[in-house]
Amino acid sequence: MARVHVIANQKGGVGKTTVTVNLAAVVADTLGGNTESPRVLGVSTDPQASMLEWATRVGDALPFDFEQCHDRPEVLAKLRTITHYEHIFVDTPGSLEDERILQTVLAQADDVIVPLEPEPMSFSPAARSIARVVEPAGVPWRVLLNNWDPRDGSGDLIQTRGFVEAKGWPCFNTVIRHYKLHTRASAEGVTVVQYAKNRVALEARQDFFKLALEVLGSSSGGVPRHASDLQEASGADAVYAGAED
Ligand SMILES: Nc1ncnc2c1ncn2[C@@H]1O[C@H](COP(=O)(O)OP(=O)(O)O)[C@@H](O)[C@H]1O
Ligand SMILES: [Mg+2]
Repeated sequence: MARVHVIANQKGGVGKTTVTVNLAAVVADTLGGNTESPRVLGVSTDPQASMLEWATRVGDALPFDFEQCHDRPEVLAKLRTITHYEHIFVDTPGSLEDERILQTVLAQADDVIVPLEPEPMSFSPAARSIARVVEPAGVPWRVLLNNWDPRDGSGDLIQTRGFVEAKGWPCFNTVIRHYKLHTRASAEGVTVVQYAKNRVALEARQDFFKLALEVLGSSSGGVPRHASDLQEASGADAVYAGAED
């Protein structure tokens, strides 16, 4: 049976679609399978369909199967019963109006990834989503710090780690750094696994490979780590030195 990973945060623009597409691409690429039979399914439940547009531009090079399902509640309510795939990654809407869709897919989730940008303006909306819909779903969930630009210094990252830790929220060790490559990927019709072969692209890709390892690691029954366990809380800029784009 497929493991259903839902990417959720009711704030728009935090990276749900970016994370869904690139994580699904890396996991599909890593697990192999052939183009006729990918082992990963990407599902968009967002009526704004930005994942659909992105997937359409990537075309045949998309390493996972894709379905746009915002208007197919009968499919969303049965995601867990799909046997054909090993992993299903579900992108969700970034608005409170579409909460019913979110509730439907959260009821099917094996785990939830909550992207959070390292800036104070993002904290309250994330806290609201977590308290209102993510925690009540009763499945393992973790916050993912996304879109951190090391050139801005580590202050925001340390502050965000502190906030996450104070809340007692489980958090991925991996931080997805800001790269223009990620911003441009949708318009250019590529996913991380198709980025050019150069050093900056390798760095950008590396974050998603690290994230995939954490996600796949917990698929075999690992316990999500709590923010308070993190060793990297203040040393992250040593680990994530020098992003460029
Ligand atoms: N790590 C990142 N590096 C660069 N740009 C990013 C990153 N994450 C998100 N973005 C950009 O931020 C914007 C919002 O991201 P998106 O994935 O569409 O968010 P959401 O789906 O939560 O609304 C997009 O333009 C996207 O390209
Ligand atoms: Mg989106």
